[in-house]
Amino acid sequence: MNKSLREKIVEQGNLPAHIAIIMDGNGRWAKANNLPRVAGHVEGINSVREIVQVCGEIGVSYLTLYTFSNENWKRPQKEVSAIMKLLLSTIKKEVGNLNKNNVRLSTIGNINDLPDNSRQGILEGIEVTKNNTGLNLILALNYSSRQELLMAVQRIADKILSGEMNSNQISEAIFSRELYTVDIPDPDLLIRTGGESRISNFLLWQLAYTEFFLTDIHWPDFREEDLLNSIIDYQGRQRRFGQIEEQVSA
Ligand code: FPP
Repeated sequence: MNKSLREKIVEQGNLPAHIAIIMDGNGRWAKANNLPRVAGHVEGINSVREIVQVCGEIGVSYLTLYTFSNENWKRPQKEVSAIMKLLLSTIKKEVGNLNKNNVRLSTIGNINDLPDNSRQGILEGIEVTKNNTGLNLILALNYSSRQELLMAVQRIADKILSGEMNSNQISEAIFSRELYTVDIPDPDLLIRTGGESRISNFLLWQLAYTEFFLTDIHWPDFREEDLLNSIIDYQGRQRRFGQIEEQVSA
């Protein structure tokens, strides 16, 4: 519990409603600590637990975690299978805690291609927490933003071919409705840990006006105080959405 930072955030008022996080640096954290890579993912779970808890407590509405990308399948088979097992064991272990904290679990990405038991565990977690009204915790799993965009294009093309709509009806709102994020507002704040400065095929459409916070801290070391500092940094910015300063501060 970090009272003074939390109080500062509450006083400021403009809390980001949706925070998205690229959790990077687990492998390097493990290496720096002379541990196998998987130990970085295991410790990363402790960061996930703490960040979910804090987001729920301070009133963030949506938290999207880039948990497993479509490209992550290319990692050594041993690591992929360890991450899948970790995912399942974490969800099983934490679902009671999520419920207690009124957290609603959901996913973006193609979960059909996950191993059966991991997919089943996730679907159960989604079912058990579906009536919760606090933080929406969204796990990006087997997620690729380019694939998501292509899927939206295909769906719209099918609707045009079947005569359900005309091409001149395609708008940003119509297009957004075909994305995984249909019921989710665009992120206000994107955090990337681990010192890299790239988007890595994450929410390419949805991040159009999102504020970025990049930090060298590796994900297993990213905890409450780091999150609160990133929010304070966000609160100090002026979001102009393409307009000039005088227009947005008027
Ligand atoms: C990036 O670090 C991390 C991942 C690809 C996996 C993240 C997954 C977890 C923390 C488990 C998530 C579980 C739940 C329930 C959310 P990296 O391995 O790319 O690190 P490196 O860049 O230092 O090698």
